Amino acid sequence: MRILGIESSCDETGIAIYDDEKGLLAHQLYSQIKVHADYGGVVPELASRDHIRKALPLIEAAFEEANCTAEDLDGIAFTAGPGLVGAILVGSSIGRSLAFGWDIPAVAVHHMEGHLLAPMLEEKKPDFPFVALLVSGGHTLLVEVKGIGQYQILGESVDDAAGEAFDKTAKLLGLDYPGGPLLAKLAEQGEDKKFVFPRPMTSKPGLDFSFSGLKTATAITIREQGGVEGCDEQTKADIAHAFQTAVVDTLTIKCKRALKQTGIKRLVIAGGVSANKDLREKFERMMQGMQGEVFYPRTEFCTDNGAMIAYAGMQRLKAKQYAPMDMKAYPRWPIDSLPPI
Ligand code: KG4
Ligand code: ZN
Repeated sequence: MRILGIESSCDETGIAIYDDEKGLLAHQLYSQIKVHADYGGVVPELASRDHIRKALPLIEAAFEEANCTAEDLDGIAFTAGPGLVGAILVGSSIGRSLAFGWDIPAVAVHHMEGHLLAPMLEEKKPDFPFVALLVSGGHTLLVEVKGIGQYQILGESVDDAAGEAFDKTAKLLGLDYPGGPLLAKLAEQGEDKKFVFPRPMTSKPGLDFSFSGLKTATAITIREQGGVEGCDEQTKADIAHAFQTAVVDTLTIKCKRALKQTGIKRLVIAGGVSANKDLREKFERMMQGMQGEVFYPRTEFCTDNGAMIAYAGMQRLKAKQYAPMDMKAYPRWPIDSLPPI
């Protein structure tokens, strides 16, 4: 079976074609970074308009890359939420309409389920059950995964998502949008323990996260160092390093706790922040110590892409869980409300 996947929930238009026997046949990605850069963050209306411009040309490019046509498709999957409502509506109305026109089923995909299943596109994929840490720009979730659609939320952020904290802290340090990867790069030059930030919510039991205090700790430190203009590059790097270390430590502490609580030895980490090098190194070490295994998507599939939507869509297509004709966008959509397969 073959499926076309459409991702448009934020600032990336991702299109992919996935075949359940041959694997990923095409994957096209257009990032709107330049569109939003001047504004220091994603402007929802501009995002929607750019998805309109890019979706169809990318679908054509994906057909060319996969050397196939619409006649070879068995379904179309599109992100139906969570995310920016206008942006989601673009991808979902294009996906729903093409499926209607081509007389094939449409499948509504949950964006975070896409992230969660992205490691299944890799050679090294996890067996069920596993614990998933989903760390993106909009969500920080710890989920016990017994199977596809069998998700129990163990913990989540009570305020900022991990990626959001990276982006906001990057802004405080005077870095451009999107700040997360730039902050990570700057942190590589930072000296360890020059500054030490708290590890929020780790001293109390529980698996929830809170990252907004870390952002405040950074803001105070920058002020104490004479403001962002007063800080030299090394001081900025030291602050970035302290922030990143605090986030990664907090995530490892909570994941270790979740693995112990569930008795599971397999951990999946996905979403934009899972591309972070320091995070990968520390988790690798932690999982070795626990005689467990950690699984990631390849770096380019950590951030938003069409491949993960095509893969998740394929699982739901095979289960005949089709989207109705009156498909809506779901800006908020709890992952534990999805049906099992
Ligand atoms: O999954 P994603 O592409 O979009 C959402 O679903 O939100 O995640 C984007 C987030 C952004 O906040 C970005 O700054 C962060 O992931 N990110 C990183 C890195 N690469 C992307 N954060 C830390 N280190 C990175 N290397
Ligand atoms: Zn995402």
